[in-house]
Amino acid sequence: MVETPSPAAPLRDKRVVLGVSGSIAAYKAFEIARRLEDCGAVVDVALTPNADRFAPAFTFRNLVSGDVAVDMWATDVISELHVEMGRRADAFVVAPASATTLAKLAQGIGDSMLTLTALATTAPIAVAPAMDARMYANAAVQQNVEKLRARGVLVAGPARGRLASGREGLGRMVEPVEVVGATRALIGRHAGDLRSKHVVVTAGGTREAIDPVRFVGNHSTGKMGFAVAEAARDRGAAVTLITTQEPPPGMFGVVIRRVTSAAEMKAAVDERVAGTDALVMAAAVADYRPVEAAEQKIKKSGSAPTIALEETADIVAGVEGKLVKVGFAAETEDLVANARKKVEAKGLDFIVANDVSEADANSGFGTETNQVTVLDRDGGSEQLPLLHKYDVALRILDRIAERLPS
Ligand code: CTP
Repeated sequence: MVETPSPAAPLRDKRVVLGVSGSIAAYKAFEIARRLEDCGAVVDVALTPNADRFAPAFTFRNLVSGDVAVDMWATDVISELHVEMGRRADAFVVAPASATTLAKLAQGIGDSMLTLTALATTAPIAVAPAMDARMYANAAVQQNVEKLRARGVLVAGPARGRLASGREGLGRMVEPVEVVGATRALIGRHAGDLRSKHVVVTAGGTREAIDPVRFVGNHSTGKMGFAVAEAARDRGAAVTLITTQEPPPGMFGVVIRRVTSAAEMKAAVDERVAGTDALVMAAAVADYRPVEAAEQKIKKSGSAPTIALEETADIVAGVEGKLVKVGFAAETEDLVANARKKVEAKGLDFIVANDVSEADANSGFGTETNQVTVLDRDGGSEQLPLLHKYDVALRILDRIAERLPS
């Protein structure tokens, strides 16, 4: 029996203060709190009195493992709770951030548990504005947002979309999953070991057109590459993700570049790789493509067509420079020997190899977990246990970090 690995917890050992201010979007803060806790964080919640009317403190008390504070004068809370919450925070995230709360944060006014805690903390701060589009466009709000940004506050959103008034516009709070992504990015940029590094990650299987409706492809879903991109972002790196598949939501802070074919992926990698610290080629790149893609759909004609193929260029082998190069190898036989040859042939620092021969529900294409062996240039090899792809990504990044100048 294989032991089930514990779920990935990107915010393990982190404490986050979630500041909630008065906005219809406050109900979404329940989901933010829950998701932060699911990521392993201990969440404290500081509500403004207005927020308490939209999304009562009572509900938060049932969702988080930290303190929930709304009334500055409450006698049942420890005195100086705002100082305590501010002191122990790894991040302070205000979501939703109303126009009034943004103004108070910009001015340094402390008149509620939320604003007092903001003053009392030295943790990095993020805000997710939420208000009517006209309010957001107001010069006073814009100036406050700019003031906060200039002070190093991360401003997440707002997004364009349907507002409480029923109208469309720029003012909608970014989705809870993106607020969580912003929190992870914020903590990484502040204290992560890869801050100031740039990592390029590729993900997904390429599609080589046969005609406008058909392609030569493979079973890669991109999950391993997405996990590497997220984990690198969480550790503070600036991340560019070049992907053939739509990444899941929550990639806040990751620059995403969509491509389809091996040729497009190569062009995107070549363009982005200059000045990069590491390239992680998790994509399953087609080795062959049809020599020509038919302009119109190939019709059934009674005799099966022969599709002539030609080799694609090897993307990772063609990348030169001082960056750390990481490859992946999905093999169905002679895993170690085959993967080791690729380290040499492609000039890799190391390769992450997995056996995809068995229909294993725990490892390989489309799974949440992976069991891999890492083979490095110096002949070393390490077989990792079955881990969540996020945790495999962390191990890969540990090896990259070791090879980078600090
Ligand atoms: N790769 C690449 N460009 C290609 C093919 C592969 O950059 N045209 C990269 C993959 O992203 C992966 C590594 O090379 O990181 C190994 O890919 P794999 O398909 O296993 O290797 P191949 O060289 O294609 O060898 P084979 O198909 O014979 O196993």
